[in-house]
Parts: sequence; C-alpha cells; structure tokens
Amino acid sequence: MLGAVPSVPTDLLACPVCRDVVTEGPGRVTCASCGRRYSVDDGVPDFLLSPPVDGLDAAPGPIGRSLGAIVGIPPVYDLVQRLAGVEETLTRVGRKLEQAAGALVLDIGGGTGRIEAVLPAAARYLWLDADRQKLRGFRTKSASPAILGDATRLPLMDRSLALRPRETPARRRRLET
Ligand SMILES: C[S@@+](CC[C@H](N)C(=O)[O-])C[C@H]1O[C@@H](n2cnc3c(N)ncnc32)[C@H](O)[C@@H]1O
Ligand SMILES: [Zn+2]
Repeated sequence: MLGAVPSVPTDLLACPVCRDVVTEGPGRVTCASCGRRYSVDDGVPDFLLSPPVDGLDAAPGPIGRSLGAIVGIPPVYDLVQRLAGVEETLTRVGRKLEQAAGALVLDIGGGTGRIEAVLPAAARYLWLDADRQKLRGFRTKSASPAILGDATRLPLMDRSLALRPRETPARRRRLET
C-alpha cells in the first residue's frame, strides 16, 4: 500500500508505458522494466505522462478557457452537474451497481467522485481522473484511494479488474439465443 492515506494496492498498479509492475519507494513508485518514476503525493500515485492540464474539459479560445476554468472549480462543477440532471443519472447508475457489492469499482474519469455515494456499502471505490483540480474536489468528500492517470493509458495491471459490459435488453436477448 502507498503512503498513509488509504491508498491503492501497489500490486494493482502498472507502468502506463510498458505495462510492467511497479515497485514502491519513498514518495514514488518505479517501473520494474523501464525505470520510469511516478510520484506519490498523499497516497495518490501520479501516472500522468504529459504536463498536467487543469480543467481537461476546457474549450479553445479565451472565452471558452475562462468558462472552462470557472466550471472546473469543483463546487461550480457539482452545481452544473446538478442543474444538468445528474441526480437522475446517479439513481440509474446506482441500480446498475447493486451487483458490485464486495467488488472494487474503478471510476474512470471520476470527476469529483459523485458515483461513490451510490455504491453498495460493501463495495470499494477507486477514483481515476487526469485532472488535479477534480482530485481536490474529490478529496473534499472522500478519502478513498485515488490515481491520477489517463484513461487511454490505464496504469493498472492487465486483468486486475473484471470488465462488466453494460447489460441491455438487446444484449440479454442475444446471449439467451
Ligand atoms: C463529464 S466528467 C464526469 C465526471 C464524473 N464521472 C461524474 O459523473 O460527475 C468527465 C471527467 O473525465 C475526466 N477525463 C477526461 N479525459 C480524461 C482522460 N483521458 N483520462 C482520465 N480522465 C479524463 C475529466 O477530468 C472529468 O473529470
Ligand atoms: Zn515502464
């Protein structure tokens, strides 16, 4: 386990570049294969490969960037999500997640971590996002393990998590015939 704050089991982690295991050292993890070092701050490993961009969803242009910066502020972001109807979405997601009791649930693009509130009590939550600002927002509500990383280069070992494809009536019919 990394650091003092509840953290990510190190054996789940993989170097996002060469996919090999990482070993733990003070304030960092190191890839056993390529030797790349990734810092660990308050138990949160940082696997971002390019310079961090606060407010990933920022639009181009000065007005877009200004709006993006404002909307990226965690309480503003939560308010915008609420106005956009996130509560209804969370109710639906919560129903889907009932089957996750006892599992470790990875929330890719976790934002400020709203989904954690609708997990079954026995499930464990793992947050992953590429935006440090969202991490700050997440930390105001949760001490669950978190990873700074890119969804297109997941810093997790292959087969460390089961993939649950979304089950739709059409998919169910296909599986049953
Ligand atoms: C629309 S928000 C959804 C947030 C959250 N799932 C929720 O329901 O409130 C999308 C999130 O994905 C993150 N994101 C965008 N591109 C990403 C990437 N390549 N890797 C990781 N996170 C990414 C953004 O920082 C943002 O927090
Ligand atoms: Zn590596």
